[in-house]
Amino acid sequence: MLTATDNKTYRTIRPKILYFGTPVALITTLDESGNANIGPMSSVWALGYKLVLGLGCNGKTFSNLLNQKECVVNMPSAHLHENIERIARLTGAYPVPDSKKALYTYEKDKFSAGGFTKMDSQTVRPPAIAGCPLQLEAILDNYTVLEYDENGDPGTAAVTVEVINVKAHEDIITGTDHINPEKWSPLIYNFRHYYALGEHLGKTFKAEV
Ligand SMILES: Cc1cc2nc3c(=O)[nH]c(=O)nc-3n(C[C@H](O)[C@H](O)[C@H](O)COP(=O)(O)O)c2cc1C
Repeated sequence: MLTATDNKTYRTIRPKILYFGTPVALITTLDESGNANIGPMSSVWALGYKLVLGLGCNGKTFSNLLNQKECVVNMPSAHLHENIERIARLTGAYPVPDSKKALYTYEKDKFSAGGFTKMDSQTVRPPAIAGCPLQLEAILDNYTVLEYDENGDPGTAAVTVEVINVKAHEDIITGTDHINPEKWSPLIYNFRHYYALGEHLGKTFKAEV
């Protein structure tokens, strides 16, 4: 068992990916003809009302977000992992980019493919996903390309969006404006496996509820 003083039993390794456990988010966007897409992703973090999204530049989510400049960052509960896996091999990009052809097929309607239901957003045009207890309506702020592919095309980018409206399901709200951590359980992507949260361990000095 690893203790707080163990400084000996470590090895240098080179894992293919460094997905050390972040929440899954489902990004809904619209294309130029108003068709809605869902992009599952997990490289997401929040600071204040800014969110940074790590996105592949060959995906439909990235191009929709750059073109239409708005999205909903839907945060699914843990129990939605099977629906998410049903759309995991799909892309809304047509034709499927060469770099995605080996693993992905085109799907125009990921809502039907994953068994998801649209619901109206309040401040942006892309629909939200019913059953996702936290829905962050956001507009494009900026982006920075992180890596270029072998052809010199943008490969991945850090996209900053600003949350302009937060919708939360009644069940996870406490008081007027707080999320109840006892009731909200994000879906965690942990080295390509899905997990729910474990037991409650404590809270930070700044916690208000
Ligand atoms: C659980 C999960 C997490 C993922 N995380 C990311 C991510 O953080 N960034 C990303 O660009 N793609 C991520 N992907 C892959 C995209 O979902 C995939 O490329 C998909 O085809 C994107 O759809 P789109 O092309 O319609 O936008 C993830 C997929 C799954 C299932």
